[in-house]
Amino acid sequence: MSTATELDVGLLRDTLELALAATDAFPTAFYERLFRDHGELRAMFHRSSPGAQSKMFSQKLVALVDHLDDPTWIARELGAMTASHRGYGVRPEMYPWVGDALIATLRDACGATWSDAAERAWLAAYDRLAQAMLQPA
Ligand code: HEM
Repeated sequence: MSTATELDVGLLRDTLELALAATDAFPTAFYERLFRDHGELRAMFHRSSPGAQSKMFSQKLVALVDHLDDPTWIARELGAMTASHRGYGVRPEMYPWVGDALIATLRDACGATWSDAAERAWLAAYDRLAQAMLQPA
């Protein structure tokens, strides 16, 4: 991920903060939706308890969004995540599944405050993260 210039970092931060404040169940709701839509993924998540995994996912997401304007941090972090996710057997086609579940969960949690701009900002940001994590080693 090179630069954050075209990403609306403020909107991403605000919507994520709102979603996490709106419901403690935000990360759990994300995994429930993901496993409902793609049950075959459930078996891949066996190293941690669902609670621990949800916490790690949302903490990482907050950290990534907080550092979107720090390309050095993002590159280091995504390098580690790319390696770990390859080791988990994550395949390229799974990235949109996770993105769809994430954005739908954010949309639900933000309720009436969600906007087309928020949708576009998240689609662009997730696409950047996914593309970066899919780069060959
Ligand atoms: C922006 C995208 C993503 C973020 C922020 C994220 C975050 C995380 C974090 C923080 C962990 C904990 C351990 C580690 O850091 O390696 C993790 C584990 C994992 N992630 Fe992701 N992830 C993302 C995308 C995906 C995708 C697309 C898949 C595909 C199914 C996936 C599947 C997994 C699996 C299988 C584990 C291991 C679960 C376990 O140990 O039980 N992740 N992820």
